[in-house]
Amino acid sequence: MPLKFKSFLQAKPAYKGGKSKAQAGVASKKIYKLSSNENLLGSSPKALAALQKNINNLNEYPDYNDQAFRLALEKFYDGQLTANQFITTNSGTANIELITRAFLEEGTECIYSNPAFGPYRGFPKKLGATSIDIPLIGPDFQLDVKGILNAINEKTRLVFITNPNNPTGTHLPKAQIDELVAGLPDHVVMIYDEVYYQYADAPDYVRALPYVVAGKNVIAINSFSKAYGLAGLRVGYSYSTPEIAQYLQTLRRPFMINSLSMTAAIAALEDDEFIKATVDLIQQEKSYLYAELDKLGVKYWKTQANFILIQPTIADDVFVERMLSEGIMVRPSASFGAPNCIRVTIGTHEANLAFISALKKIT
Ligand SMILES: Cc1ncc(COP(=O)(O)O)c(C=O)c1O
Repeated sequence: MPLKFKSFLQAKPAYKGGKSKAQAGVASKKIYKLSSNENLLGSSPKALAALQKNINNLNEYPDYNDQAFRLALEKFYDGQLTANQFITTNSGTANIELITRAFLEEGTECIYSNPAFGPYRGFPKKLGATSIDIPLIGPDFQLDVKGILNAINEKTRLVFITNPNNPTGTHLPKAQIDELVAGLPDHVVMIYDEVYYQYADAPDYVRALPYVVAGKNVIAINSFSKAYGLAGLRVGYSYSTPEIAQYLQTLRRPFMINSLSMTAAIAALEDDEFIKATVDLIQQEKSYLYAELDKLGVKYWKTQANFILIQPTIADDVFVERMLSEGIMVRPSASFGAPNCIRVTIGTHEANLAFISALKKIT
């Protein structure tokens, strides 16, 4: 008898991430990597110091249930959430995978809104579930709340939203989220991906926190890969109501996070200075980039995150290749549901100058 592979597992990978410098064939060159929304200032110095201090304890297992990490998160959220409401994992992506495994199977559905982060579509597919796209609408990529509510049926388990959104950089105003949360039936959970929240400053921006505190069926996704500058360590967390968090804990592998990643994450949570320097840089540099893109007449969307979506006049694959030959890595957004667009991470001023200079040269 042949092996019994699940047919839906033989599809494409759940998510194809951005290339590393080595994969792009530029590991040994001077290159500005503006393709993965990393922090170009580097990593939280407090996290780096904690790593050095703990490097000699690798013979010991960490806490099997990340107790110290979850208590540090409780403190970080000023006691608005308790330690048992946090699900600590290997990254935002690992959280998304864990949540889809917890709620989805063959015959169930989830809803997401393109342009969107790929795993919302990829992971459900790997479980044999159906993902329904209710695209963002209008020139500012707003949520089609009525469309989402109309698409919900008894098979629906999850609705994904991202705020600020990747790859558009735009945000969803509080009024839209209020309307969506109010309209969701009790059997549906909202996944609120807020991995770029540190960068958002719009007055009508809201995090997932008030909804979770109010006991709504909401799970917030967070990551240490972005503002904290720890993408290489693979660490993240989600938070939700005690009931949902307890359910998710049942799927979490014990000892999932290695002790160095956990030590660094705990230290990073206290590094307000580094977060402030990071956010200040992004605010300052986005003004510079807007002004330069305006001068060049390149279409772009105003951002609430650490990247900008632009629409060059040349084909996206040609644009990416020409940029690479000028020493700049950028990300095409077609696989995120934004065809003919390019996502550019906001870097240091030096990196942004290089990006603008390359842009002038290639277009
Ligand atoms: C919207 C969004 N969610 C989650 C993640 C996951 O980040 P990580 O898996 O590095 O924690 C990313 C990373 O690009 C993202 O853009």
